[in-house]
Amino acid sequence: MRGLVLEAHPGRLGPEKTKTLGEWLARAGFVLRREEHERYLYFSREPAELPATWSFDRVANHFEDHIERSLPGYRDGHDLICRAMDSFLRDDSRVYELGCATGALARAILARQADRPGLRYVGIDTSERMVEIARRRSDGDVRAEYRVADAAETVLEPCSVVVSYYTLQFVPLRHRGRIVLRIYDGLEPGGAFFLFEKVRQDDTEREVMAAEWLHRFKRDRGFSWAEIRAKDRALEGVLETQTAGENEAMLRDAGFDTVVPIAQWIPFQGWLAIRHRG
Ligand SMILES: C[S@@+](CC[C@H](N)C(=O)[O-])C[C@H]1O[C@@H](n2cnc3c(N)ncnc32)[C@H](O)[C@@H]1O
Repeated sequence: MRGLVLEAHPGRLGPEKTKTLGEWLARAGFVLRREEHERYLYFSREPAELPATWSFDRVANHFEDHIERSLPGYRDGHDLICRAMDSFLRDDSRVYELGCATGALARAILARQADRPGLRYVGIDTSERMVEIARRRSDGDVRAEYRVADAAETVLEPCSVVVSYYTLQFVPLRHRGRIVLRIYDGLEPGGAFFLFEKVRQDDTEREVMAAEWLHRFKRDRGFSWAEIRAKDRALEGVLETQTAGENEAMLRDAGFDTVVPIAQWIPFQGWLAIRHRG
């Protein structure tokens, strides 16, 4: 259905009820186009706002603005990882980021490690457009290398740190255990893996509450209900969440025996997993 006309005199409904009705329908994907007729409220679906499937290539141009308004603490997470990473780096360390997008975290890491000319950062992403933008924004920093590649196919060279900041959730579940195993194998003894994921809650009540909080966060940052709903739909089957317990079990199964939760904003969580020495 593209359009819906309700015989509901806006003047009689009053602003509060009209707003509630508008919000209720917006959650179902309708946009209110009202006051065109004194007696009817007219709602329609916005086809442009309802992409069938999510595409990172398509959002690449405005990715950082988009994610800051969609992901609570996006920059705070970068800051935390950058600071925590200090303890695991040497002057000639190699750092991998799986799903580097436009290179925002890479730039933060490299700026903090400005006095380490021998450091190497390797960013991997399946989106050509993201990688193109990341390269352009890296401002000729020779320590940074960006590759168009799939995390599921990548074998890591020996490294001190690996980061997956909201990326593994986009990789089909059947590949994740193998990827984490390769990360463990690629890390030098004492190396660190930072994993940040959207997590599924343990029960439906908490899942609904988490979704509502996140929707409100996005509303407060200027997204319409229709846009929020459209994105939720587009991500169905693309973003596959695991519970916090499942993520921790995945890390332990790969061999990490230190697995520490370091950040949480329901429904987002971050862990530091350390490969032990010897
Ligand atoms: C939420 S974004 C990551 C944000 C980024 N880490 C940052 O801090 O700005 C997820 C990224 O993962 C990439 N991606 C999705 N599946 C991937 C895969 N199998 N291998 C590598 N990158 C992937 C997407 O193209 C997208 O750029």
